[in-house]
Amino acid sequence: MITMTNLYEIDDSRMPLRLGSALRVPSYAYSKWGINGNEEYLRKLSEEAYRAEWADGSPRQMQYVSAAMQNSGYGDFPQILRKANARAVSRLVKKFPGKVVIADVGAGESTVTIFDRLEDEDKDRIHLTLIEPSVERIEAAAAKLEMRGFSDFDLVVGSDLGTLQQLPAIPQIISYVATLHHHAYLDEPAQALYRTLQTGGFLTVADWHNPMWEHPNRVYEFLQTLQWKTKEEDLEAFAEKFPLVKRKADHIGDPYQRKAMRLIQDFWRGWAAVRREAVERGEFDSRDEIFMLEGHRPFVSEQETMSNAGFSIAEEHRLLKDSELLMLGVYQKI
Ligand SMILES: C[S@@+](CC[C@H](N)C(=O)[O-])C[C@H]1O[C@@H](n2cnc3c(N)ncnc32)[C@H](O)[C@@H]1O
Repeated sequence: MITMTNLYEIDDSRMPLRLGSALRVPSYAYSKWGINGNEEYLRKLSEEAYRAEWADGSPRQMQYVSAAMQNSGYGDFPQILRKANARAVSRLVKKFPGKVVIADVGAGESTVTIFDRLEDEDKDRIHLTLIEPSVERIEAAAAKLEMRGFSDFDLVVGSDLGTLQQLPAIPQIISYVATLHHHAYLDEPAQALYRTLQTGGFLTVADWHNPMWEHPNRVYEFLQTLQWKTKEEDLEAFAEKFPLVKRKADHIGDPYQRKAMRLIQDFWRGWAAVRREAVERGEFDSRDEIFMLEGHRPFVSEQETMSNAGFSIAEEHRLLKDSELLMLGVYQKI
């Protein structure tokens, strides 16, 4: 059945990795992907396209993501993001006297990593709000906090856009680890976060950044480097669906962005291998799936959106040498 959401996707079921909907790429690249129409409607559709991946996601998803990068000979990238974020949060907590409310959006291992990194004296004066659409994942994080003897937290099941206006307590710190890029349009969450945060408070965003998804030609050229049975047919369908595929994308001038693009391609190669092995073991199920077309964007683009929403840029940290694949941005509501 053709619905509006799958209007921008091909049948990727025989491919070694799933593409998902092009509605998930950064909204400023939509014209390159041939996506146009009523903006309000596209915003709604893009959020729906993301929901499919995460709301029913399995805890194994993140284990496979870690394995994909390690298989390619790199570090545990999700954990690098969590640790950098936790270091920043544990430092920022010290700026506030008394009770401090910390909200972790896309809660999970990142929340537990924050808690573990806090100094003991701060563990006694924080309240954590966990926001996460997957019930299974939020409950797993809550169980880990309880195992540590910590119970001063709320669980908010839902997405950021669906819950930020009605949090049980106003946060001084909001943290996102590998989660903010799950929006094609970043301006809406940026504005909602600005409204939600206490004045003087901080937003920490540890996330993946690269320019891969800004042009279908970059994806097409990468797919050509992979091998699978129905490759010719699938690539033809891709080119038919996204006519700019065969037009060369702009050269990427920034060397940190260029390297980030190479690394994200290595990640997807690693993912294809991890996925194939799990399928062969009969272990992979549809809830473990992640989709390739996504909202990663160059770091400067995230910073621009945050500034437009009113935030001042307090800190930026590159977490890998020579590449902006993993970045931590700290933003303040002044
Ligand atoms: C890549 S995982 C990272 C999980 C966790 N932050 C960590 O580092 O362990 C992304 C998480 O964000 C959640 N997520 C996706 N879109 C979201 C949204 N709009 N609002 C809140 N959470 C979202 C997903 O369910 C998923 O658990």
